[in-house]
Amino acid sequence: MLSDKIKIINLPKIIDDRGNLSFFEGGNHIPFQIKRCYWIYDVPGGEVRGGHAYKELEEVFVALSGSFDIILNDGVNEHKVSLNRSYYALYVPKMIWRHIENFSTNSVCMIMASEKYNEADYIRDFDQFKDHANKR
Ligand code: TYD
Repeated sequence: MLSDKIKIINLPKIIDDRGNLSFFEGGNHIPFQIKRCYWIYDVPGGEVRGGHAYKELEEVFVALSGSFDIILNDGVNEHKVSLNRSYYALYVPKMIWRHIENFSTNSVCMIMASEKYNEADYIRDFDQFKDHANKR
């Protein structure tokens, strides 16, 4: 099942009157060694990011600020995860189609990735993704 493949990770939260602190470590809280981190910000209202899958890449999403919805599809089922706290992380394995929508004003979506950027690892056509996913 799709919901068994993805995972919400509860990150450590150090509560402090001066401001809270959360963290993660590659290979510890995050189930892979992080090779890349990127973030999506200044998203105009109503815009959608993503709309692709990766053949090999694993990713972890954190809503550093604000909120957004991640819509996931494994070729059979669809599942929506809303991220709105900076101490939750969403792990998404390879071969899951995803897009991100419903960004709140000033939201920041940070993504940790298991590999460096590689356009050849992207599947950008949903029908091609479904064919690929259903042959596995
Ligand atoms: P992309 O992953 O296609 O974003 P989206 O699916 O939301 O449109 O990335 C957009 C562009 O940014 C892509 O053409 C290449 C560049 N890019 C990098 O150079 N390095 C990266 O780590 C990422 C994620 C994107």
